Amino acid sequence: MNKKEFLNLGKQPIANGFLTEGNFNSEFFYDLSVGLDEDTKLVTHMDYVKPELMFNDTYAYRGSMSKTMRDHFSETSELLRKHLSDKPRVLEIGSNDGVFLKNWDKDTTIAVEPCSNFAKETNDLGYLTYDGFWTKQLSETIVEENGWMDLIFAANCICHIPDLDQTFAAIENTLTDHGFFVFEDPSLVKMINENSYDQIYDEHPHIFSITALKTILERNGLTIVRVDNTPVHGGSNRIWVQRTMFAKPDESVENNLTHERIIGLDDPYTFERFANKVSDSKTDLVRLLSRCVDSGKKVISYGATSKSTTVFNYCGIGPDLIQYITDTTPEKQNKFSPGVHIPIVKPEGNFDNSVDFAFLGAWNFAQEIRNKESEYTGKFITHVPVVRIV
Ligand code: TYD
Repeated sequence: MNKKEFLNLGKQPIANGFLTEGNFNSEFFYDLSVGLDEDTKLVTHMDYVKPELMFNDTYAYRGSMSKTMRDHFSETSELLRKHLSDKPRVLEIGSNDGVFLKNWDKDTTIAVEPCSNFAKETNDLGYLTYDGFWTKQLSETIVEENGWMDLIFAANCICHIPDLDQTFAAIENTLTDHGFFVFEDPSLVKMINENSYDQIYDEHPHIFSITALKTILERNGLTIVRVDNTPVHGGSNRIWVQRTMFAKPDESVENNLTHERIIGLDDPYTFERFANKVSDSKTDLVRLLSRCVDSGKKVISYGATSKSTTVFNYCGIGPDLIQYITDTTPEKQNKFSPGVHIPIVKPEGNFDNSVDFAFLGAWNFAQEIRNKESEYTGKFITHVPVVRIV
């Protein structure tokens, strides 16, 4: 690759590495800098964090923690079924706690998951789950033991994998002739338009444009046939792919490529401008939180997200500005946030009207949170698309 750095978000810890006090001194940090690959126009980290440091048997993120995502995967499954035969063979790469799998038949659906705690959970549910990283070698074992797949699905997983060529070649190897590979990941268009720089963290070594994916998929015998822009995770793309020989792209592909050209996703200047806006966002957020605290207000954060790991570490926001973070995930509660060590607590008894301001760490679920917290009389603070009280 021929990468040119455009943004540096400083020293960052493992974004989902929630920790106890005893582990503060041994915490791992790396330099988070992002570049544009001049050959493919891929937005990608300058250096990749080793996958084993992030995806292991203590992985804390559960996809099923929000109704929005549970509903999203049930609707996505309905949509996919319309394009498949009666009893399709389905493989999910990166199945997490089974939030997508649960919509499919156990006899014909298998999964791959490198976080052993979750691989065990979905094996126990009855879905054969291979406990490992998606590689060419594992794909060969899967084909040998299960045959080719009619659908390969991956949500918020492909953008986690440093080596995209190996990933796509292994997928090409595993699909039936007319099979679909469908994957969802955060959209680079949305990140640039909304200034949501917190989509960038260790687990997201790439933020995908359709432009870059087209080149990388095509050199591995695969072609994009459809793109759906979805609102989840602050704006994602659901990308449908087939073997090049059998692919018939619809107009959504060209429409997305044209839109990306218009907003300049192949132009280094777009990314320079983005980096300047990120720096302004930091100044504005620290200023706003400091004013709240200096006025004696109680400020907390809502949702211990990976995204907020990026924000807090980049902006230097610690327990002096945010008293604590509430989160519904049992694996995160009673631990500290990565890097800046803000305590994480259960929402019950901690999110009430004694809170004056709650920073939306989970801004992507703002609507679900507002519906749930309709009795809350305090205010929310967000930094997307601009720092403000809402
Ligand atoms: P998400 O935005 O998917 O996180 P990431 O940036 O890591 O991809 O995660 C949302 C987090 O917020 C998750 O830990 C669950 C938590 N959460 C709550 O605590 N309460 C809520 O009402 C919702 C919707 C999420």
